[in-house]
Amino acid sequence: MSASAAAGTARLSIRDLSVVYKARRGDLTALEAVSLEVGVSEFVAVLGPSGCGKSTLLGIASGLLAPSGGAVLIDGQAVRGPRRDVGIVFQQPTLLPWSTVLGNVLAPIAAMTRPGAQHETRARELIRLVRLEGFENHYPHELSGGMQQRVAIARGFMHDPSLLLMDEPFAALDAMTREHMTDELQSMWMRTGKAVLFITHSIPEAVYLADRVIVLSARPGTVREVLEIDLPRPRTLDTLGSTAFTGLCNHLRRLFRQEDAGEGRR
Ligand SMILES: Nc1ncnc2c1ncn2[C@@H]1O[C@H](COP(=O)(O)OP(=O)(O)O)[C@@H](O)[C@H]1O
Ligand SMILES: [Mg+2]
Repeated sequence: MSASAAAGTARLSIRDLSVVYKARRGDLTALEAVSLEVGVSEFVAVLGPSGCGKSTLLGIASGLLAPSGGAVLIDGQAVRGPRRDVGIVFQQPTLLPWSTVLGNVLAPIAAMTRPGAQHETRARELIRLVRLEGFENHYPHELSGGMQQRVAIARGFMHDPSLLLMDEPFAALDAMTREHMTDELQSMWMRTGKAVLFITHSIPEAVYLADRVIVLSARPGTVREVLEIDLPRPRTLDTLGSTAFTGLCNHLRRLFRQEDAGEGRR
């Protein structure tokens, strides 16, 4: 637990969470006894194998999905549905097909008020940051999957949320764009001090970005380990080549290999 979370000022707090999906073929436990906190201005990565319940966790934190057991709090208040001070980037881009790139990025503002010139300036700046300048008036079907995902990332930042939930946001991007977006996310986070819950199945991505990595087991997802990442910031190309970085990555790789080899097989 980070110092800020220990002081009771966690932005996001998940306590003893369980999620059971009811299905005709029987119930499926996706998450079991998961507790975690994201402090104010803290960057937390959740790392776990495919199917372990990561997207379920994001659904819970965003208030779109109700827990079967346990509690979810934002700034100490129980989450009862989607909130305006939370930004979400889903694993799939989920853009409005009838709206342009600019319109999609402005959507979180449009849901609250009529967007003004200052909003449009900010939207264009975010579009530039995700390297989609020139595509402002294109429609989603005219974009590749990776470009659509970058629109969704810009949209997640648009209303300047104090908590950002991101579900494998870079998984659909080509390697070079992914590196660019990773560095942009880090500098945006360092500038704005948001709380971030970042879901990934990539070990290097988690270690590169996070203050803490929360490792989930295979389904039903439970917290296997919490790893503090005390690498100096900003993390750069030099970080990737450092022995501290590779040591942390290898430690996590070993954890998953153990799981593959034994207890994780269910
Ligand atoms: N709506 C749903 N109904 C039933 N089972 C689901 C539903 N959504 C996810 N699951 C199951 O819950 C488990 C966790 O899914 P998910 O949270 O998407 O995992 P991850 O994002 O880590 O790949 C998987 O076994 C998946 O098949
Ligand atoms: Mg997922």
